[in-house]
Amino acid sequence: MSRASAVPITIRQVAKAYGAVAALDCVDLDVRSGEFLTLLGPSGSGKTTLLMVLAGFIRPDQGSVRFGDQEVIRLAPHKRDIGMVFQNYALFPHLDVAANVAYPLKLRGVPTADCARRVAKALQTVKLEGLGTRRVHELSGGQRQRVALARAIVFEPRILLMDEPLSALDKQLRESMQIELRNLHDQLGMTTVYVTHDQREALTMSDRVAVIAGGRLMQVDTPRMLYDRPGNRFVAEFIGESSFLEVTASGGAWCWNGRPLQLGTEPSGSIYPQPAQGARACLMLRPERLRIAQAGQGSPATGTNALPARVGDVIYQGDTFLVQAILDDGTRVSARAIAGAASLARAPARNEAVELHFEAGEAVLLPEEGPR
Ligand SMILES: Nc1ncnc2c1ncn2[C@@H]1O[C@H](COP(=O)(O)OP(=O)(O)OP(=O)(O)O)[C@@H](O)[C@H]1O
Ligand SMILES: [Mg+2]
Repeated sequence: MSRASAVPITIRQVAKAYGAVAALDCVDLDVRSGEFLTLLGPSGSGKTTLLMVLAGFIRPDQGSVRFGDQEVIRLAPHKRDIGMVFQNYALFPHLDVAANVAYPLKLRGVPTADCARRVAKALQTVKLEGLGTRRVHELSGGQRQRVALARAIVFEPRILLMDEPLSALDKQLRESMQIELRNLHDQLGMTTVYVTHDQREALTMSDRVAVIAGGRLMQVDTPRMLYDRPGNRFVAEFIGESSFLEVTASGGAWCWNGRPLQLGTEPSGSIYPQPAQGARACLMLRPERLRIAQAGQGSPATGTNALPARVGDVIYQGDTFLVQAILDDGTRVSARAIAGAASLARAPARNEAVELHFEAGEAVLLPEEGPR
């Protein structure tokens, strides 16, 4: 299949309400040409609605959608030059594989001979060559998924939209299909918008991820930035594991429980502005960024923060121990230690007095009131 001529997608002020429910609340989003962008959010957050607006099956109450320079908001779905994979695949059970894949070509009046050639090529791309005469009900879940994908790419669209295409597959097949889908995208180069509620899938596959909740975009960023520098508490909680400390500004420093913390600088320089006296914020700690030290082993190295804690539950998870520590003020914090690591001579014991250590730059300061 030839490389598709990709286009950027520009979404401006798109809103869609169902009665009192704002399914989409003034969404602005730019998808770059040839990019693999994932919409990630909990159930009911507006992912399908936004995808359907792009596909043309839902007309928003307001706003603009452009593919390249072309405003498409009034354009019918079949005139938008998009391939779409629906969550339930929406295959025709009475047709064989080849006829399913040929459907969009027939719809566009492509001559029969040309059709057969392009169907064969699409089936080859998704590694289903030779299965053209099979009925859909004679296929496995993963094979059906590929038929749906072949049908979406057979007319070489500029844009590919996929709504939770892997959610019906078991874990192993899902993980191998994630890599296949990403490779296919890299091979064909079309602008891709992918929907999932699975954060790991989003982080694995995407160039960038748009986190959506309640019809609003919470953050649009690379997987790395979403994990390392979430912009608000929703994203911090939704992606990865995290614990939170309530901190207050005093004497120019952020303090937890009256104790000044060192957060302000990274090798690249200051990351947080000087806080106003009495300001409140929330500090995010990732479990794998905390080191568990025995209490009373002398003061930690300069630049290291030490939080005194008592060990609660210790959960052995094969490669790691998840340690639930309880701080002096009752805050619960999860820390992860590699099982068998040289630094951890033995597993922490319940009720043991420990210190949780982290460097400046390993914790992320979040505004107390983020968009939620
Ligand atoms: N046809 C409709 N009529 C009324 N409300 C609707 C309709 N379609 C969607 N909604 C509502 O709009 C909101 C967003 O729905 P949407 O289907 O976009 O969510 P989603 O993020 O795709 O969720 P899921 O992960 O469960 O598929 C939800 O609150 C939903 O109940
Ligand atoms: Mg949905």
